[in-house]
Amino acid sequence: MHFPSIFAKVFAENVCGTVQYVAGFFEISAMKKNLVVLTGAGISAESGVSTFRDAGGLWEGHNIMEVASPEGFARNPALVLDFYNQRRRQLKEVNPNEAHYALAALEKWFQVSIITQNVDDLHERSGSTNIIHLHGELRKARSVDDDAYIVDWFEDLNLGDVDPNGHQLRPHIVWFGEMVPMMEVAASVASKADLFVVIGTSMQVYPAAGLIYEVPAGIPVFYIDPNPDNWNSSVGTVIAEKAVRGMQILTEKLQQFL
Ligand SMILES: NC(=O)c1ccc[n+]([C@@H]2O[C@H](COP(=O)([O-])OP(=O)(O)OC[C@H]3O[C@@H](n4cnc5c(N)ncnc54)[C@H](O)[C@@H]3O)[C@@H](O)[C@H]2O)c1
Repeated sequence: MHFPSIFAKVFAENVCGTVQYVAGFFEISAMKKNLVVLTGAGISAESGVSTFRDAGGLWEGHNIMEVASPEGFARNPALVLDFYNQRRRQLKEVNPNEAHYALAALEKWFQVSIITQNVDDLHERSGSTNIIHLHGELRKARSVDDDAYIVDWFEDLNLGDVDPNGHQLRPHIVWFGEMVPMMEVAASVASKADLFVVIGTSMQVYPAAGLIYEVPAGIPVFYIDPNPDNWNSSVGTVIAEKAVRGMQILTEKLQQFL
């Protein structure tokens, strides 16, 4: 059994909803290569979660500064909480797609680190185990008074939901203009990559987009996006496809690096 047929089997089983790996049938190198993956909203598009740049800079019909900035929250906290409540509720209706599952399957062959700009939990739910959320997580809330007070939050978050000291809770989301606390960790992970893959991001949001400059010179780089115009094609290989198809192509290409 050789590599592509094993991946074909993993794909087939994911389509049926069960993941049953067959890695035991062949020997895996003890030293797995570091595969670092930067994902953006595009990887979740085929799960039914909208990106925002594809809708003309609107996120589900809202101006981004209205719902994703500290100023927007100060102006209208109820609207902002409601916006994220809708996004959080949507997570119960959507599922990981085959691109998420394909990344999880790659852990059998590579040391995979996912750095995601997404606030959804689809990487976790597809089985990936090593995920850095650069921009926060929908299913967490934190105190407006204490950045270190972070709690799991699966239902609606409302005005009056407070921390133990009585301070309002807010979505655990990094808004425009705020520090990106996980950036240093992400940069360190990117700097140790043997292979770097970027999926479904317009590379317009900094500092996340700057991670490409942390990657060691000369390593193989791949970019999967159906609209790759924002990508400098001299930096690696472009796979101009949606994430699901793009991951199938990438998986085939990765066999040469085992
Ligand atoms: N799912 C989510 O968590 C979600 C959704 C929308 C926005 N956001 C937030 O908004 C910001 C947006 O930045 P961004 O660069 O991630 O998104 P973006 O909206 O700026 O860009 C999305 C990219 O995905 C590509 N794309 C569209 N459909 C695709 C598909 N089927 N497969 C692969 N690629 C596809 C587009 O061509 C575009 O380049 C992030 O900070 C993120 O936190 C998150």
